[in-house]
Amino acid sequence: MGQTGKGFRGGRRRLLVAATLSAALGAVELPAQAQTLRGKPRSKIGVIGSGHIGGTIGGLWVSAGHPVMFSSRHPEELKSLVDKLGPLAQAGTVAQALAFADVVLLAVPYSAVPELGRQNDWKGKIVLDATNAISPRDGAIVDEAKANGIGVTTAKYLPGARIVRVFNFTSAATFQRESNRTGLLMAVPMAGNDAAALMQAGRLVRDAGFQPVVVGGLSSADRFAPGGKLYHVEGTEAEFRKAMAQYPAP
Ligand SMILES: NC(=O)c1ccc[n+]([C@@H]2O[C@H](COP(=O)([O-])OP(=O)(O)OC[C@H]3O[C@@H](n4cnc5c(N)ncnc54)[C@H](OP(=O)(O)O)[C@@H]3O)[C@@H](O)[C@H]2O)c1
Repeated sequence: MGQTGKGFRGGRRRLLVAATLSAALGAVELPAQAQTLRGKPRSKIGVIGSGHIGGTIGGLWVSAGHPVMFSSRHPEELKSLVDKLGPLAQAGTVAQALAFADVVLLAVPYSAVPELGRQNDWKGKIVLDATNAISPRDGAIVDEAKANGIGVTTAKYLPGARIVRVFNFTSAATFQRESNRTGLLMAVPMAGNDAAALMQAGRLVRDAGFQPVVVGGLSSADRFAPGGKLYHVEGTEAEFRKAMAQYPAP
């Protein structure tokens, strides 16, 4: 898909399309200010689950200048990761990362979410939820997420958390490859109900080298989760918005 594709020529039409989409989907537009804060101010980020996606996105934030605590149930096993990333990166337990963080990236198998919810205090935490519920890996909770929506299900198990669904729509390898690419940035969809949390998430999406696109409230998160029409739609913002219009909310 080319960004100057027929459907997106003409500023007036583009504005109309954007306004209609925002109204129809309940999308929250990020203020211009949120789009120019690249790297400032720094956020203390805790990564829960420092595997493929947590290690990749956390590494991009370290490169952008954010202090990141990567966590594991076995923090000593993260030594090579944090040594490679340098002084802004450190390793800790899940509890230490939660205590350290202004913002948490959740990147564990979905089956671990209820246990993490029970074991920790999530009240007031901004949680960027990159998890996906995958069958058969995650067991019975996959059916619950399908029935009730994945964003709503995460919110149920992390009471009080300010959830933004983000960084789940494509692979860790794609995020690594496409970060800060030449030309227009790759669009990264987000969904959430908390406007301030969405703004913070949008800043961190930009700092990781991508263009944030708010799809809608938490209930819209299934549109870009596995099985959703927007899953793996890897394009520019215009291309992503075109796909949003082509595959509207059910
Ligand atoms: N890989 C991708 O390309 C990709 C893309 C989009 C979304 N996702 C989603 O992101 C999540 C993580 O995927 P991944 O591929 O990064 O997995 P991964 O490489 O296996 O890493 C997951 C990490 O979660 C930690 N973990 C597992 N159970 C835990 C528990 N009960 N409590 C705390 N930490 C626990 C593990 O750390 P310790 O064992 O060290 O504690 C592990 O390193 C999944 O929900 C996946 O569907 C993955």
